[in-house]
Amino acid sequence: MTRKLSRTDNLIHQFDTVLRTLVPHAARASRPTPAGEEVHDEPMSDEERRHAAGLMRINHTGEVCAQALYQGQGLTAKLPEVRGQMEEAAQEEIDHLAWCDDRLQELHDHTSRLNPFFYAASFGLGAVAGAIGDRLSLGFVAATEEQVGKHLDDHMERLPPGDHRSRAVLRQMAIDEAHHAQLALEAGGARFPAPVKFGMSLMSRVMTKSVYKL
Ligand SMILES: [Fe+2]
Ligand SMILES: [Fe+2]
Repeated sequence: MTRKLSRTDNLIHQFDTVLRTLVPHAARASRPTPAGEEVHDEPMSDEERRHAAGLMRINHTGEVCAQALYQGQGLTAKLPEVRGQMEEAAQEEIDHLAWCDDRLQELHDHTSRLNPFFYAASFGLGAVAGAIGDRLSLGFVAATEEQVGKHLDDHMERLPPGDHRSRAVLRQMAIDEAHHAQLALEAGGARFPAPVKFGMSLMSRVMTKSVYKL
């Protein structure tokens, strides 16, 4: 039997999402990590390990932003027909979050200290886009996913050659993100004009530059 969530239930649920996203190791994946026992790294130097961790930290923060974006959008967007699909996509983002977190731990490194800031910013953008309208909000998801896909391709090339475990994670993420972008467009998302995409890529450059080290 389903029941309508009361306001308090809803508030607790929202708060739970924030904690699971921002507290390290709190996210639980629903699918096993693509970096399973059968995937082995080759030996890496300290410098290579630090570089791999910097890239994985960026990907982890990207997933923090995705959680916040879906959550903010969920508060304000109507999305009657696609709500189920969007929730499925949000669950896949939790997998990505947990996989990147696990990988950072394997690399003996930490998630970004700037995550609360990026969470808040993405939450706000998601909520505003959702309030303006579903077409814009789905378009925002599609454009974000495309951007994330570009990052992933770039990172797969830039990872140390011996880092097969990070690469396995990014490969599956890239498949999922392309699917999310396609879902959002098929659901009626607006295709964003080039200047908006350019603005988004400037913002993501600020994120990647700061999070690589912090
Ligand atoms: Fe993701
Ligand atoms: Fe995604």
